[in-house]
Amino acid sequence: MAKSTPATGGARRAAAASAPVAPDDAGAKPGKKIVRPKAAAVPAPAAPAPAAARKRTPRAPRTAAPAASPAAPEVGGTAPRKAPRQEQTAPVAGVPVATDRTRAPLQPGAIPASLAIGEAEGVGPTGRKRPTFPAPPLLKKHGPARILAMCNQKGGVGKTTSTINLGAALAEYGRRVLLVDFDPQGALSVGLGVNPLQLDTTVYNLLMEREVEVDDVLLKTAVPGLDLLPSNIDLSAAEVQLVNEVAREQTLRRVLKPVLPDYDIVLVDCQPSLGLLTVNALTAAQGVIIPLECEFFALRGVALLIQTIEKVRERLNPDLELEGILATMYDARTLHGREVLARVVEAFGDKVFHTVINRTIRFPETTVAGEPITTYATDSHGATAYRELAKEVLAR
Ligand SMILES: Nc1ncnc2c1ncn2[C@@H]1O[C@H](COP(=O)(O)OP(=O)(O)OP(=O)(O)O)[C@@H](O)[C@H]1O
Ligand SMILES: [Mg+2]
Repeated sequence: MAKSTPATGGARRAAAASAPVAPDDAGAKPGKKIVRPKAAAVPAPAAPAPAAARKRTPRAPRTAAPAASPAAPEVGGTAPRKAPRQEQTAPVAGVPVATDRTRAPLQPGAIPASLAIGEAEGVGPTGRKRPTFPAPPLLKKHGPARILAMCNQKGGVGKTTSTINLGAALAEYGRRVLLVDFDPQGALSVGLGVNPLQLDTTVYNLLMEREVEVDDVLLKTAVPGLDLLPSNIDLSAAEVQLVNEVAREQTLRRVLKPVLPDYDIVLVDCQPSLGLLTVNALTAAQGVIIPLECEFFALRGVALLIQTIEKVRERLNPDLELEGILATMYDARTLHGREVLARVVEAFGDKVFHTVINRTIRFPETTVAGEPITTYATDSHGATAYRELAKEVLAR
């Protein structure tokens, strides 16, 4: 395959950004990859970019990715009254970990008033005084990128949603952001309006074929400054094929290295497993963000994840840090949600982001629309929350 120079790659990306989008899954593939930032050609008023002209066209994603996620539990339903089981967690540098595993479950009365009433007197939903994060200063020059892996082997906790929306919010603040779809489900690609079934070149080719470069796979999204390395089911083969490679855990790090000077942040959306692909993401990354759904089983498996992070740090990547725990799908109206969040803060202390992502139907809607919430519902609480998270991440 012909290698593209940065110039041709850029031109190619620009062309990709403005390329018209074929009707959904039309099937014809003229040999080039297909960019599908949006579904159909329904012009939207005041669209800033050509691809954005197709915004809010309701379209069911063609992959099973979102549907493959475990169904989110009902809010306000029959929430278990029992507090979540406290897992044994291996200590991670700087992470305070609760050790008293015999403690009685939290009683409703034991919940700090701040948690019970949401955000009172400057106290955030995590029960801590919420600092004001300044708007990040504009950058005069970009790069080298910091790589953050969005990781939790538990499925359906908000990894992909957080990758898309944190990435879009960071791009709004002038950061150059590269999103890496590192999940064969391709949900990140779908969430940005790309049909993974019609891609000629994906992250799989980048990992497995030495002549394929990032520019051959890269897609521009409708959000300025936000680029995507898409994936599809092909990537599942990489998990097996990489086993025979030399330095198999360093493959992602190696292929991303040439483009790190072009970006400020790279977010890697991991699949829900702790297999070789996830280890690759952890080996490439400087930081890990763990999205945790505020529900009963939230802390299950986190100990194993923390142990994996520790092992990767010891053996493969001494720079790796736990960037933060992101509480997602939080519903302050339920005692259950507040109890779980209190437990998470108890276990991880300051590693828990002050920003908490509420549960709202807006997020599933954005997947159908194929765009981030920051453009789909720009003034919504969800969009504001991810902007706050972006500020918090940049301030860390
Ligand atoms: N804050 C939220 N409120 C309501 N629904 C949400 C929220 N965040 C994510 N969702 C929905 O929950 C489902 C799972 O989210 P998402 O795909 O981001 O999780 P994931 O951890 O990436 O899943 P997987 O492990 O399968 O990759 C999706 O349908 C998504 O739209
Ligand atoms: Mg996902």
